[in-house]
Amino acid sequence: MDMPSSCKYTMFFGRNLNSITCKGLALIVIALFLRVVLRPSLSGYGGIDKNNLDLIHSRSLSLDSDNGIRKEKFLEVPQIVWGLNNQKIAFARACLTARMLNRTLLMPNLSASLFYKEIDRLQPISFDKVFQFERFNALCNGFVQLGRYSDLRNRTGVYELQKGSGRKWTVERDLDQLKEFSEDSFNGYEVIRIVGKNPFLWHDHWPVKDYARVFECLVLVDEIAKEADKVVSKIREVGKEMRSKSQSAQSGVDPDSSLLQPVPYVAVHMRIEIDWMIHCKKLEQRLNVSEICSSKQEIMERVGNIVGLKSPIVVYLAVADSLLEDSSILTGWKEGLLPVEKKKLSVDGIYKKYPYLLQSAIDYEVCSKADVFVGNSFSTFSSLIALERTQKMIRMGVTSSCGVDVRWPSYAYNILGKSNGPHKWMTNMSDSSLKAISYGSNIISC
Ligand SMILES: *[C@@H]1O[C@H](CO)[C@@H](O)[C@H](O)[C@H]1NC(C)=O
Ligand SMILES: *[C@@H]1O[C@H](CO)[C@@H](O)[C@H](O)[C@H]1NC(C)=O
Ligand SMILES: *[C@@H]1O[C@H](CO)[C@@H](O)[C@H](O)[C@H]1NC(C)=O
Ligand SMILES: *[C@@H]1O[C@H](CO)[C@@H](O)[C@H](O)[C@H]1NC(C)=O
Ligand SMILES: *[C@@H]1O[C@H](CO)[C@@H](O)[C@H](O)[C@H]1NC(C)=O
Repeated sequence: MDMPSSCKYTMFFGRNLNSITCKGLALIVIALFLRVVLRPSLSGYGGIDKNNLDLIHSRSLSLDSDNGIRKEKFLEVPQIVWGLNNQKIAFARACLTARMLNRTLLMPNLSASLFYKEIDRLQPISFDKVFQFERFNALCNGFVQLGRYSDLRNRTGVYELQKGSGRKWTVERDLDQLKEFSEDSFNGYEVIRIVGKNPFLWHDHWPVKDYARVFECLVLVDEIAKEADKVVSKIREVGKEMRSKSQSAQSGVDPDSSLLQPVPYVAVHMRIEIDWMIHCKKLEQRLNVSEICSSKQEIMERVGNIVGLKSPIVVYLAVADSLLEDSSILTGWKEGLLPVEKKKLSVDGIYKKYPYLLQSAIDYEVCSKADVFVGNSFSTFSSLIALERTQKMIRMGVTSSCGVDVRWPSYAYNILGKSNGPHKWMTNMSDSSLKAISYGSNIISC
C-alpha cells in the first residue's frame, strides 16, 4: 500500500500524526495489522469470530463421528424438570441413554418454570422453543439424534420401560437393564418409553466428555440468543464508556488499540443469596471441607486479585433476583472494577419478558461469552459454564490452563489460587462420570 511519505515513520506508533489523511491511513493500516498479525492473540478476548469458530466446531465434531444412530427407532423420556442446569444434565443423560440403545431421542418437553413439587405448574415448553432443533442434530450428527413425534410411523409399537429405584437398584443393575434393552429382541418396538423418575435422577453411566459433547450441540434459538447479545452489548457499552473516561484522564494512552476489539468483561456468578448459604454450609459440614461458601468480601477480594486482569474493566454480576435489591453487592470492589447487574444495566426488562428457564438461559449465555468467568466450583450452573468454556478451549487446541494466556479463562472464587486470587478452573474431561461436577472436584490443578 502506498503512503504519503510524511506518514511513514509515524504511522506504526499511531500518534503524533500531523495530518488527518495520515491519521486515517494509519488507522486503516493498524486495523489491518491487528486483524492479520495479532488475530490469534487478540482472540483471547473473545475476538474469534463466530463463523471461524463454527467451522472449527463442525470440522472437529465430525472427526469422531461414528456410524450413526438409527433413525426409525425411538426413545421417549418423561418431561425434563427443575433448574436450567438440571434440565441440561437431564437432557444430555436422556440423549446418552438413547445413544446406548442406538435410538433417536424423541424431542422431550423441558419445563419453563421452577416448581419442584407442583407437577401441574411445571409449564411444559418444547425443546425447540429454547434450543435449535436442526442445529442440534447437525452438530451432534452421528453421536446422538433428536426426533419429532411426527416422525413416528406406528404408535402401537411402544414398550414401557420402568426404571428401577431404591437402594437395591444399583448403577450396575441399571446398566444391565439398558444393555438388555439394547438387544435385538427389542428391535420390534418402534418406541421404548421410559416411565417414572425424570432423567436427572437416573444413574449416570457416561464420562464427562460425552456430556460436554451433547452440551456443545445446544445452541439457543435466535430470539433468546439475540436477547443475550443485547445484554452483552450493554455490558461492553458500559465498559467502553468507562475506558474512554479513564483514557481521557490518563494522557499518553493509545486509544487506537481498544477501538478495534470488543471491550472485554468479567462475569461473576455470585452465589451469596440466603438459600445458597444454607445449602453450602450444610455441604461443607457433610463433605468436611471449608472451601465451598465464599462471602461477598471474599469474592470481591479474589476477583480483584486475578493475575493479569487489565483494568478498568466491567464486572457483570450474575446474581439471584433477590440480590438485585441489595445495593451493597455493587460496592467494595477494587478500583478499576466496575460492577454491574441486570438492574444497573437497565436490562431487567429483557429478562422479565421470559419465564424462569429462559431467564437462566440468557444469564448462562452472558457468562459463557465473558472474556473471564469466575464462579463457584460447587455450583452446577458455574460448573457447566466452566465445562463448556473448557470444551471450547480444547476445540481450539488448548490443553492446559496452566499457561499464562489461555482463552476463555475461568476461575473458582471459592478456592484460593495464586496471589490471593481465585483458582484457575479448567474442567477435568477425563472424569468418568458427571458426579464430580456437583462436588467441586472437577478442577484440574496446575
Ligand atoms: C447404530 O445402528 C447403526 C445401524 O444399525 C450402526 O451402523 C451403528 O454402528 C450403531 N451405532 C451405535 C452407537 O451402536
Ligand atoms: C409437551 O407439552 C405440550 C404442551 O405444551 C403437550 O401438548 C405435549 O403433549 C407435550 N409432549 C410430550 C411429549 O409430553
Ligand atoms: C405396528 O407395530 C406392531 C408391534 O410392533 C406390529 O405388530 C404391527 O404390525 C405394526 N403395524 C403396522 C401398521 O406397521
Ligand atoms: C475433617 O477434616 C479435618 C482436616 O481436614 C480432619 O482433621 C478431621 O478429622 C475431619 N473430620 C471428619 C469427621 O472426617
Ligand atoms: C482427572 O481425573 C482423572 C480421573 O478421575 C484423574 O485420574 C486425573 O488425575 C485427573 N487429572 C487432573 C489433571 O487432575
